[in-house]
Amino acid sequence: MAARLGISRAAVWKQIRSLRKRGYKIESSTKKGYRLAGNYDILDADMIRSGLKTQWLGKDLRCFSEVTSTNEVARTIARECRSDAINRIANCTARIVKGTANCGAVDETANDGTVILAEIQTQGRGRLSRSWASPPGGIWMSLILRPQISLDRAYRINMAISVAICKALADLYGLAAGIKWPNDLLIDEKKICGILMEVSAEVDRLEYVVVGIGINANVDVSGYPAEWRSTSLGQELGRGVSRTELIQKILLEIEKSYRHMDSKEIWEEWRSRSITLGRQVRISSVSGDLLGRAVDLAEDGALMIQSRDGLHRVLAGDCIHLRALEAA
Ligand code: BTN
Repeated sequence: MAARLGISRAAVWKQIRSLRKRGYKIESSTKKGYRLAGNYDILDADMIRSGLKTQWLGKDLRCFSEVTSTNEVARTIARECRSDAINRIANCTARIVKGTANCGAVDETANDGTVILAEIQTQGRGRLSRSWASPPGGIWMSLILRPQISLDRAYRINMAISVAICKALADLYGLAAGIKWPNDLLIDEKKICGILMEVSAEVDRLEYVVVGIGINANVDVSGYPAEWRSTSLGQELGRGVSRTELIQKILLEIEKSYRHMDSKEIWEEWRSRSITLGRQVRISSVSGDLLGRAVDLAEDGALMIQSRDGLHRVLAGDCIHLRALEAA
């Protein structure tokens, strides 16, 4: 290896040591050399960036071995690290990050499009203050976005992102994921992906948006409680997937649909992939429960519910798909 690369044996050893630190399993044998063994599916920022075809999204991409929540890390970076404060990142995230940050040489000051990934989240968060199981093997990822749109358009980001992930799953694996309002991705009624969007805004101006994406990629969901109704890509495909390839594809699709998030096409694509429209649903929100039929999705993301007492616009809440019998 040293001869082929024209470097010393010590230099080879140094590189091997650094790869091992990053999680690669490399066997060594006297006189034979080194061999890459075991699990290739580790999250490595350089590896992900090397095949990333986006123009701006994920050019600043950081992989952590363990964090509380990638959304928390992303929010901290978005809030604290706006200008010349890269050195502060290490300090400000020390509380929420364990392990080595595997970062690349990038423009650390521009965080529109920064992507945070972690192998494990210890306090992964879901919508409606639920917790989100985040064992190794999943994709736990947050994006920092700074769109120039007003607050009332923020839901278009949600739409663009759920459509983009559906496309990525269809193109890579031929899987038809449906969108359950507002933004759960389901395969055969079982959840494969959840999205948690957190917005920081001043009056009517969006300051930044953190979009957290959780995908049960190579996660063993067999031990999850049945009521979670979860599935994983591994379970659906009967094999593990390359998270690196999937992350690259998702980021590319997100970049494309984000560019057109205000277009009619994204809205129509969302509706065509919806598995909520046409169903009897129960929406639970702070204002109580609403039972009815989901008849349409408004352009601002509101779900239109036809109930016994009329048509309702619902902007937030927990949506439960009812079975025919339950609905009756
Ligand atoms: C939901 O369906 O309730 C949303 C789940 C969102 C989970 C992701 S995993 C990455 C990011 N970090 C978090 O703590 N949550 C989101």
